[in-house]
Amino acid sequence: MKGLRILWPVLGLVGLPATAGADPIDDAIIYRQSAMEVMAWQLQPMADMARGETPYDAETFAERARHLEALAPLPWEGFIEGSYSRGGTAASATIAAQPEDFRGKAEAFEQAVRALTQAAGDGSFDAARAALVDVARSCKACHDAYRE
Ligand code: HEC
Repeated sequence: MKGLRILWPVLGLVGLPATAGADPIDDAIIYRQSAMEVMAWQLQPMADMARGETPYDAETFAERARHLEALAPLPWEGFIEGSYSRGGTAASATIAAQPEDFRGKAEAFEQAVRALTQAAGDGSFDAARAALVDVARSCKACHDAYRE
């Protein structure tokens, strides 16, 4: 089963049996991919509203934006040495070769998400939509460079 096993040692603390063999590299890959999936899940309803597929609801949009802002700093700690260009991951080894650029793209993304939360808080559809496009661009900029 695909999933984190780092929970098992925690369960061990409360007397439940722990499983051996957790691989920290595999766990980091699953962690960061899961963080990306959670971000995409939160982004989707905003994208649907921006495209006019669902009616714009300022409150829901702003709530999703806040969720995304809370999630945005999370994936990066899963990008660790030895976890690139191997089975089970689409993360390019270029990340290890250009860590500052990767970090810069992560920061640009986080900044775009903060701008999104602000724009969404104002309630204007056009401003929220424009800020969402910027966020999507920052996702894509990193994927184009570092996702194989
Ligand atoms: C700074 C770089 C960066 C940014 C910003 C970024 N991603 Fe990613 N994303 C990656 C990399 C690298 C992978 C491949 C991870 C892997 O396979 O280990 C990935 C993978 C994914 C995946 C696939 C996860 C899986 O299950 O394999 C999704 C979905 C995703 N990103 C969505 C997003 C969305 C949505 C955004 C913006 C809201 C975003 N990403 C922003 C670098 C980034």
